[in-house]
Amino acid sequence: MTYALPTAAITTPTDPLACFGPIVAPRLSESMEDRPYELFSLEPATPTIGAEISGIRLGGNLSAEVKAELRRALLEWKVLFFRDQDISRDEHRAFAQSWGPLEQHPFYKYTQPGQTDIDVATLAKDATSAAAENIWHNDVTWHATPSFAAVLRAVEVPPVGGDTLWADTGAAYDLLPEDVKNRIDHLEAEHDWIVSFGSGMPQDAIDTLRPHFPPVTHPVVRVIPETGRRVLFVNVAFTQRILGVSEDESNELLRLLYRHVMRPELQVRLRWKPNTIAFWDNRACQHYASSDYFPARRVMERISIVGDAPQGIAR
Ligand SMILES: [Fe+2]
Repeated sequence: MTYALPTAAITTPTDPLACFGPIVAPRLSESMEDRPYELFSLEPATPTIGAEISGIRLGGNLSAEVKAELRRALLEWKVLFFRDQDISRDEHRAFAQSWGPLEQHPFYKYTQPGQTDIDVATLAKDATSAAAENIWHNDVTWHATPSFAAVLRAVEVPPVGGDTLWADTGAAYDLLPEDVKNRIDHLEAEHDWIVSFGSGMPQDAIDTLRPHFPPVTHPVVRVIPETGRRVLFVNVAFTQRILGVSEDESNELLRLLYRHVMRPELQVRLRWKPNTIAFWDNRACQHYASSDYFPARRVMERISIVGDAPQGIAR
């Protein structure tokens, strides 16, 4: 497919990301086919990220053909929305499990007292438990193998507010000026959980977990194996620093990349209803839960699917 980059407008001497004109980002990598879906309806929510799927009920019994179309839609749109999915916890689990082994999140027993199922994270927030997900991130990038994807179901939603936003980190990479791409293409960054999860954790829990979860290193630009798509893979919640450059340069690059991902043209915003499900490719987008609904209550159930070790651009 063809697309236009606003190369003339995108840079200024003082702000390499300044752009006041049209921003037309590519949705697909060159290797991906742009063709319609036949087994369900798909309604795009923005030009590049987010699409609502209708005409199927989620669970563990989807046909191989439907799953193949869903996988193509996930790679194309990065986050899929499904409305009115009044499914059981077991069906939710079965749907997630049909994409791969489930992530056994090691921290919720410390941060979510009373949590019973280790693979279904109940995220319940109200006036007594302030939310901390209003920061842009990919889930668990402090893992050597961060989640491939997550399936999040709304159980109880506030009357207004509590939206979730996702940002297209593939389009973000594609829209970077060439000189910035050249600077970051082969860099690596360190990711850690101490600053985020660790801040709310007792010291003995930190001491117990630390040997199991040391800082990890990932490429700054990740390549999605199925499509060859390059995506930015640093996030403000877990990335500590870019390696192999000075601290000043690391800070400069990270600030620039974080600000770029926050560009509204790269984002989609979902207003939840009970039984809305979002299924996102955690490799190819970041997300942010808006914490604007207190003291109302918001309850979500999330199941994450194990991913693989991020690969960078081949040299
Ligand atoms: Fe998250």
